[in-house]
Formats: sequence, C-alpha cells, structure tokens
Amino acid sequence: MTFDNLLINNKDQVRTITVNRPDKLNALNRQTLLELQQAIIKAHGDDAVRVIVITGSGEKAFVAGADISEIQAQSAVQARAFSAMGQNLMSLIQSLDKPVIAAINGFALGGGMELALACHLRIASNNARLGLPEIKLGIMPGFGGTQRLLRLVGTTRALEMSLTGEPISAERAQELGIVNRVVTSDELASAVLGLSGSLAEAAPEAVRGILQAINQGTDTDLNTGLALETARFALCCATEDMKEGTGAFLEKRKPEFKGR
Ligand code: COA
Repeated sequence: MTFDNLLINNKDQVRTITVNRPDKLNALNRQTLLELQQAIIKAHGDDAVRVIVITGSGEKAFVAGADISEIQAQSAVQARAFSAMGQNLMSLIQSLDKPVIAAINGFALGGGMELALACHLRIASNNARLGLPEIKLGIMPGFGGTQRLLRLVGTTRALEMSLTGEPISAERAQELGIVNRVVTSDELASAVLGLSGSLAEAAPEAVRGILQAINQGTDTDLNTGLALETARFALCCATEDMKEGTGAFLEKRKPEFKGR
C-alpha cells in the first residue's frame, strides 16, 4: 500500500510510519489523517508487525499541527467532522494492543502534540518543541489534546499550556512527564531502534495486557482496573511465553518469546 503523504518502512518487526509533508512541516490535512488511519489499521492487522513508530519527515518537525489552511476554509459542520476524524484516529492509536512510539524529531504542535500524546511512549530530540498553540489562532485543540494532556499532567499544567499556547522544550516536557526520554537529534534514530527492538522481542500477550490495563485503567475506577489486571495476568499465564520467560529466568538464560 502506498500513500501520498506517508512513508512506510519495515525493519525486523517494527513498522515506521513517517508523516511526509516536509514543506508544510508535516501538517495534518484531511488526506493525511485518512492515510494515517489506514496505515495504522494495516499495521495493527499485520502479524509481522510487533511495534509501530510514528515520526515526521525532515529535520525540523514531527508534525506542526492540523493544516491551518484547511481549518480556515471549514464550516462549523465540517469542523465538527474534522475534529471527530482526528479524535477517532488518536483514540484508535491509543487503543492499539501493539506499542506505538512517537519519535518526536522537532515541532510537535497542536495536532502534532495530540498525535504524540495518543502514542504509548514518546522519545524526543532535544530540538523538539511541544505545545498546543491553537488559542493563538482563535481556536482550541480538537484532536483530544485537552483530555489527554489533562490526564497526563493535571489541570494546572494542562490549562497553562492550552491557555497560553506557548510551546515548551523537550527537557521541560520530560520534567512534566510528557515525554519519556530526550536525546540529541543524532541519537534519536538509535534510541527509537533500541526501544522498539526490545519491545518487539517482548512476550506479545504481556505487552497487550499491560497496554489494555493501563489504557483502560486511566479512565476507570480502581476495582474495575484491578479486575482487568487479574484477567490479563491469568491470560499471560496461559501462554507458552510465560513458561519460556519463567523457565529462562530459572535456567539463567535469555528468554526467546514466540508469541504463543
Ligand atoms: N498548517 C499548515 N501549514 C503549516 C502549518 C500548519 N499547522 N505549520 C507550518 N505550515 C507551513 C507554513 O505555512 C509554511 O508554508 P509555506 O512555505 O507554503 O508558506 C511552511 O509550513 C513552513 O513553515 P514556516 O512557518 O515558514 O516555518 P518557521 O520555521 O518560520 O516556523 C513554526 C515554524 C512551527 C513555528 C510555524 O510554522 C508555526 O507556528 N506553525 C503553526 C503551528 C500551529 O499553530 N499549529 C496548530 C495548528 S491547529
């Protein structure tokens, strides 16, 4: 499957999806949102893919937001559909049972920050700037940013970032727990490769269980979350990979998980 605005790369069991509109700093227009949705569904359905990486083309931007020229031309009805489309894409990414890593190689603004927030893990290069600048355009985040940022950093920081629209540095984003790790631009590819490689080698049922328990646990009460954890824990213990992982520990060797 080829795309006009995405590049797709496969290495071992890692699929990298690169948003490829560098002359527009990888801004998300409607077509790119649709293509991302198709690419994510395809990666999810492909048994050869264990980990998904999302990044942006060029050295300047991850994604500099939703496409402002398209936003300007929209009626309220179209804007509602555009917001729903973006929200559905971000929710799809977050709900995947394969880990999705955002490799934030520059500006992650507006829809770009919302895309990064929907991913499960975020590694940023030290030139990255993250923010929700929609307020400066007379609008507000519409792809889930208010809700995901709120859940990640709490009301005080979420209000500050959304109401001022001022972007923050990668280092500050790490201090706030928005990104997992900051590396130099030169180190970003190898850092992402290392993390995605180790996730690809992990036992898939354990990965799926952790993603579901933590993702759904964010929005549920403790007892429901604990019941989900127990169910997923039991499922892990029904796998050959559990026998392999525990056996390898006891035999003092490296486990080799087969996804069974
Ligand atoms: N939508 C559409 N086009 C965008 C865009 C966006 N979100 N972000 C950048 N672009 C385009 C610019 O219009 C410009 O196109 P042009 O060369 O045809 O004029 C090109 O990308 C390069 O951007 P430019 O602004 O010239 O780069 P810069 O280095 O001066 O500034 C930014 C970089 C990221 C600070 C600036 O582009 C910016 O503020 N972008 C918008 C961020 C934003 O508000 N996002 C939320 C949108 S809801």
